[in-house]
Amino acid sequence: METGRCPHVLFFPIPSQGHMNPMIKLAELLALTGIRITFLNTHHNHERLLKFTNMAAHFARYPAGFELRTITDGLPEDHPRSGHWFPEMFEDGPEMKIKQSLREMLVDIIPPVDCMIVDAFLGFALDVARELGIPIFCFRTSSPCCFWTSYSIPDMIQAGELPIKGSEDMDRLITTLPGMETHFRCRDLPSYCRATDMEDAFIKLLVKQTRKSAKANALILNTAEELDGPILSQIRTQCPNVYAIGPINAQLKSRNGELYHHFSNTLWEEDKTCISWLNKQSNRSVTYACFGSLTSMSREQLIELWYGLVNSNSKFLLVVRPDSVIGKDEGEDVDVVKELFDKSKDRGYIVDWAPQEAVLNHPAVGGFLTHSGWNSTLEAVVAGVPMICWPYFGDQQVNSWIVSEVWRIGLDMKDVCDRKMVEKMVNDVMVDRKEEFAKSAAELAKLTNQSVRVDGSSYCNLDRLIGDIREMSL
Ligand code: UDX
Repeated sequence: METGRCPHVLFFPIPSQGHMNPMIKLAELLALTGIRITFLNTHHNHERLLKFTNMAAHFARYPAGFELRTITDGLPEDHPRSGHWFPEMFEDGPEMKIKQSLREMLVDIIPPVDCMIVDAFLGFALDVARELGIPIFCFRTSSPCCFWTSYSIPDMIQAGELPIKGSEDMDRLITTLPGMETHFRCRDLPSYCRATDMEDAFIKLLVKQTRKSAKANALILNTAEELDGPILSQIRTQCPNVYAIGPINAQLKSRNGELYHHFSNTLWEEDKTCISWLNKQSNRSVTYACFGSLTSMSREQLIELWYGLVNSNSKFLLVVRPDSVIGKDEGEDVDVVKELFDKSKDRGYIVDWAPQEAVLNHPAVGGFLTHSGWNSTLEAVVAGVPMICWPYFGDQQVNSWIVSEVWRIGLDMKDVCDRKMVEKMVNDVMVDRKEEFAKSAAELAKLTNQSVRVDGSSYCNLDRLIGDIREMSL
C-alpha cells in the first residue's frame, strides 16, 4: 500500500552474530521496499563490522536511507568483551544505561520513528516504547520450538514435568507440551531446563523475557509455516500477532536476486580460500563442520571431533574460530589446531571463519556437522544439506530434536559426542544412508524455498508486515 510518507523503522539486535544476521537481513528486506531504516549496533560491534565488511557502501544504495547508529552496551570501556560477554548487558546497571540512551535517541531522532523492531531479549525496549507511544515488534531470532518451550516452563513445572530428576530422568518423554509431541524427551529441552532449581535467576529471566515479548504489538519469527506449523499454531494461542517470515536468508535472496551475495555482515574475517579447496572436491563428498559464533569447545572435544572426522570416510572442511578452544592458554590453542592441520592435510581443510552460506550451497558439500544454532540450521535447510547435530547450549538441544525427529533430515548425537559417534554419524549421513538423507533434505528445501517465493506463506507474511508498518506511518 502506497503512502505519502516513508515509514521509519528502528532496529535493535543483541550484539551477537546469530542475532545480528537475521535482523540486518530483515532490515534490508524492508529497505528494499522503500522503508527508511535506522539500525543500532553497540559501539564495539560497529567497529568490528567496519573492519570486516563494506557495509557503509552496501547500505548507501537504499534510496529511503539506511543509517547505522551506535549505542552503548552499558559496560565499562575497558571490559574485554570476549567470548560470551553480552549477557552482562542485562544486569541492572548496564541495562539502565542502555535504556536511558535508547530513550534519549528516540526522543531526538529525526524523522521520528514509526515503529521499532527489537530483539526479543531486549525486554526493557518494550518499556521505553510504551512510555513514548511507539509501536514495537519483537523479533525472536532463535527457533520457535525454543520460544514455545521457554514460554511453557511455568506450565511444565505446574504439571510436575520439571525439574528433571537427574541423568536417569533424561529420556523421559515430555507429554504436556502441545505441538511438540514427537518423541520429545527431557534431554531435548533447551539446555537451561537441565537446572535442578527452577527458581534459578537465569531461567526466571528467560521466562520473563519470553512472556514479555509475547505482549509486544507483534512477534516476528525466523521460520516458515511449512517448517514449524504445529508450534506456530500453539504460539498464536498466546501472542496476538505472529509473522513467520523466514528463512530470512532465503527471503532476502528471493526478493533481492543477484545482489544478495554481495554483502556479508560478519564479525570475523571470512577465509574464502576454502571455496577454492571445495572446488577441487567431488560432488557431495565433503562434511562441513562448524559450530557458530558463540560455542566454545575444550581441547579434548576438539581432538574427539578431529579423530571422528579423520576416521570417517569423508573429506572435511572444519572451522575453528579463534578463541573457541577453552581450557588452555592462547598459545597452546593455536598449537593444537596447527598440529591437527598438519596431520590432516590430505583429508581436510581448516579455517578460522568460513563464508558459511556459500559453503553450504557448494556442490562439494554433502553434510553439515553443526552445533545446531538456529541460523545455521535454517541455512542448511534452505541449501538442502543433511545435518549431523552436536548441540552445545541454549536452543541447540531443541533445534537438533526438530532436525532429527520432526524433519528427519539428519542425526542428533546429543550428549554422546565422542570420536566413535562422530565417525559413525558422519558415515551414516555421508555414505551408508546418503541417498535417504539427501532425498529428505532436498524435499524440505523445496518446500521451504517455495514459502519465500511470490504467494508463498513467508512471502505473504512479510508483505503483511510491510503493509502493517506502512499503515502505522499514515
Ligand atoms: C546462537 C544460538 O545457538 C542460536 O540458535 C541463536 O539463535 C543465536 O545464538 P550462533 O552460535 O551464533 O547462535 O549460531 P547460529 O545461529 O548458527 O549463527 C551463526 C551465524 O554465523 C550463521 O548465520 C552463520 O552463517 C554465520 N557463520 C558461522 C559464518 O558466516 N561463518 C562461520 O564460520 C560460522
